[in-house]
Amino acid sequence: MKQTNENAVICRGIEKWFGEGEARVHALRGVDLEVRMGELGMLVGPSGCGKTTLLSVVAGLLNSSSGELEVLGEKPAQMSQQERILFRRRNLGFVFQQYNLLPALTAAENVAIPLLAARMNRNEAVVEAMRLLAQLGMEDRASSLPAQLSGGQQQRVALARALVHKPRLIVCDEPTSALDAKTGHTVMELLSEVAVRPDRAVIVVTHDSRVFDFADTIAHMDDGRIQTVESGAARAQQIASQVAPAMELYA
Ligand SMILES: Nc1ncnc2c1ncn2[C@@H]1O[C@H](COP(=O)(O)OP(=O)(O)OP(=O)(O)O)[C@@H](O)[C@H]1O
Ligand SMILES: [Mg+2]
Repeated sequence: MKQTNENAVICRGIEKWFGEGEARVHALRGVDLEVRMGELGMLVGPSGCGKTTLLSVVAGLLNSSSGELEVLGEKPAQMSQQERILFRRRNLGFVFQQYNLLPALTAAENVAIPLLAARMNRNEAVVEAMRLLAQLGMEDRASSLPAQLSGGQQQRVALARALVHKPRLIVCDEPTSALDAKTGHTVMELLSEVAVRPDRAVIVVTHDSRVFDFADTIAHMDDGRIQTVESGAARAQQIASQVAPAMELYA
């Protein structure tokens, strides 16, 4: 079992309100969730139930209204604004539902952003970005601008940008929604390779039942709360049954 007992994320009673007065929306209504290091946790649920809001709170892009949050052993609420930005830059990768690529930068430059922010030399950063783009079958589109790419290609650029600086926690909002089955599979393989490490964790929001097999846990969200968490033990057993004969072969 690759999951560890160390928690990557702990949410306790997280609440989030948007707006004022009549327009007030209670988007998160007491979210309790734990994701462990080494885990690929999926978050599923109907449109509007609060998945993106929860990911944004976990990633530190949005402040919750109340509740406790621990990320990679730290409490963002106790950090200064500056510390929070540095913490996020260093430790988090985020794939947005709408990709959020910078329109004036090429695919490779977009991917290189987290490395440039960490002060890596520009040429090295672009080489590293190209390497990851190639892994995602995008080597021939590295010089294209986002507007020249299809939705699925933009999604892969967004994924590469989230992975390139090897963050310890990666949160992805629908990372396979615009992808065909084969490319979606490649993306999930890459994400599970990352999560397989004991010092990393991945959270994926998805509606895509084709990728459920990659989950260690599946948290079902509805109406601003986590309703149930299903373990991917069946999957672990499936992997074990495949790995055991292979181990004998290599022993
Ligand atoms: N900035 C905002 N201002 C006001 N209300 C918001 C804001 N962002 C989200 N909401 C509301 O909060 C609720 C949860 O939204 P959220 O985007 O988290 O849902 P979701 O589960 O990600 O849905 P989807 O599957 O469609 O992406 C919705 O009712 C939404 O209208
Ligand atoms: Mg959403």
